[in-house]
Amino acid sequence: MHIKTAEFVISNSEVSKCPKNRIPEYAFIGRSNVGKSSLINMITGRKSLAKTSGRPGKTQLINHFIINNNWHLVDLPGYGYAKVSKTAKKKFQQFITNYFLQREQLIWAFVLIDIRHEPQKIDLEFMQWMGENSIPFSIIFTKADKLKPKAIERNINEYINVLLETWEAAPQYFITSATSSFGKDEVLNFIGTTNEEVLGAE
Ligand code: GTP
Ligand code: MG
Repeated sequence: MHIKTAEFVISNSEVSKCPKNRIPEYAFIGRSNVGKSSLINMITGRKSLAKTSGRPGKTQLINHFIINNNWHLVDLPGYGYAKVSKTAKKKFQQFITNYFLQREQLIWAFVLIDIRHEPQKIDLEFMQWMGENSIPFSIIFTKADKLKPKAIERNINEYINVLLETWEAAPQYFITSATSSFGKDEVLNFIGTTNEEVLGAE
């Protein structure tokens, strides 16, 4: 898919205030600092569309971007960011879960996982929660530039094996790097094909 236009629409913390138009929507979620905002910039080819930072906790709101005037990309805050109070954290996580439970336009979510790390409880639990709530998602492994091909293969195999302990089938996954643009076409083609199915079925 060719990205002709990519524009910021609105940021907010309430699902009810998200854009009302009924166009397909794709959301990026994962731990703080995993590379959600960087990935959005990489796939859209716009360096500073979404704000990124080396420090976790940069994205604090639900951010809508409109692509080619016919679908939305959504940048979300990360989960598991520990530097805020417990009450603030709970409130914060609540609007993320509300987003997934209430946003009718959401077609697909991408759960981002840092390819360097062993499977983490918080990510496995989040995916479990997505499954229990019938929210369709794929995994995107990020920061592939940080590992050699052999290590990438080993880590992914390990991850899939852990998923297969609880899932009947492992979710589809992509391998990406925001610095080298690896995986860009695969993610964009997936969104393009899904858009065709959704819009074609109307
Ligand atoms: P929050 O908004 O805090 O939840 O973080 P985020 O998931 O949006 O992460 P962000 O895109 O801001 O990136 C966090 C850090 O990781 C930044 O320093 C990025 O430059 C770096 N980063 C993101 N993706 C990649 C990647 O593919 N490769 C490398 N080497 N660094 C990356
Ligand atoms: Mg971010």
